[in-house]
Amino acid sequence: MKKASIITYGCQMNVNESAKMSNIFQSLGYEMTENIDESDLIFLNTCTVREGAATQIYGKLGELKHIKAARGSIIGVTGCFAQEQGRELLKKFPQIDIIMGNQNIGKIPQALDEIEHKTEKHIVYTDCEDDLPPRLDADFESQKTASISITYGCNNFCTYCIVPYVRGRERSVPLDQIIHDVEKYAKKGYKEIILLGQNVNSYGKDFKNGDNFAKLLREICKVEGDFIVRFVSPHPRDFTDEVIDVIAENEKIARSLHLPLQSGSTKILKAMNRGYTKEQYIALAEKIKERIPGVALTADIIVGFPGETEEDFQDTLDVVQRIQFENCFMFMYSIRRGTKAATMENQIDEDVKKDRLQRLIALQNSCSLEESKTYLGKTVRVLVEGESKKNKEVLSGRTSTNKVVLFKGDKDLEGKFVNVKINECKTWTLYGEIVE
Ligand code: 5AD
Ligand code: SF4
Repeated sequence: MKKASIITYGCQMNVNESAKMSNIFQSLGYEMTENIDESDLIFLNTCTVREGAATQIYGKLGELKHIKAARGSIIGVTGCFAQEQGRELLKKFPQIDIIMGNQNIGKIPQALDEIEHKTEKHIVYTDCEDDLPPRLDADFESQKTASISITYGCNNFCTYCIVPYVRGRERSVPLDQIIHDVEKYAKKGYKEIILLGQNVNSYGKDFKNGDNFAKLLREICKVEGDFIVRFVSPHPRDFTDEVIDVIAENEKIARSLHLPLQSGSTKILKAMNRGYTKEQYIALAEKIKERIPGVALTADIIVGFPGETEEDFQDTLDVVQRIQFENCFMFMYSIRRGTKAATMENQIDEDVKKDRLQRLIALQNSCSLEESKTYLGKTVRVLVEGESKKNKEVLSGRTSTNKVVLFKGDKDLEGKFVNVKINECKTWTLYGEIVE
């Protein structure tokens, strides 16, 4: 049997698109494998958010060159880096057979056919970046978690970010299609459904029928089945009271919200084109915490954006200290060619960036530990994910707040919800025992 493998970089959106690619390959008769050495078909699903991504992808392509020479494997590159580079990639790596943007993965069967029958030497599809891609079935690695893209593209143009240039203008998937997918996954027994979009709460802004994110969430919660709904990422600027209310009213929606902060300084937020101030962000986060008791907040934060002074950085630390995020994804600003911030003159020294990142991580780690400790003695509902990877003796699962919990139990509980009483709390992991 022919074998195929997909190497996925980057965000959840790519993970979702890789699941669709996997489904396509299997329907074409390929068996999926993680071992690229035995693959007849190797696809890299790439990311281009950070400039460093290119180096990583070039490294991998170098490796694939040898596999192709040995086995004659077909090599494909998809995702944002492929979309951005297009045909250019062939100059450096002529051994690539297929280059496809995110909108085009539905054409993979056709492309493979042409390559296999040698009607074309290379296939490059990177157009249609502003269309809604065709609906494709996905094969998720997990039997518990499914994801659904609800919007494609982004209209925000945060000045550091390349995404709007690569993924095109924002467009929403019709509500009934999303509900249809949710029903399908709920019926199949998926326990966690993740809604994806660059800015999920601007869902429906391109419709004339009034459908919006709040309505979508409300409709999804009506779908029968015991599942948790998560979504990434909302934009703080567009977070309406209506959405907060819907979450508060519906236990099906996870008590975990990712609310990208990016910076705590109003001056830097403005330079980033984020559309909110430090105070507005804090007010929103506090309102969410008040109206949705027990909610865990997470954020993305960038340090060392052009023009960031020590005082600006202190503003970021101040917000982190005040909001007490459960966890943060913290990045040093990296110059991304093609964005507005890349041309700003007041770029920050790498050493200063590194120092700030270390200080931010130290503060966040202590906040995360404090957050963790609040679970001590509590009983939490946990979705069992299976044996812990590090210790086969225990099961691993996650709470609605997305906390990892380890506990003893039967392997058959995988994919089920159990109640666990927490008796030990470390920064990233809770430990407990199953109770009735
Ligand atoms: N430099 C550093 N971080 C960036 N991000 C996006 N672009 C850049 C950049 N040029 C971060 C943002 C975003 C996350 C996905 O990646 O924090 O929310
Ligand atoms: Fe990039 Fe901002 Fe759009 Fe997110 S909202 S994808 S950070 S431009």
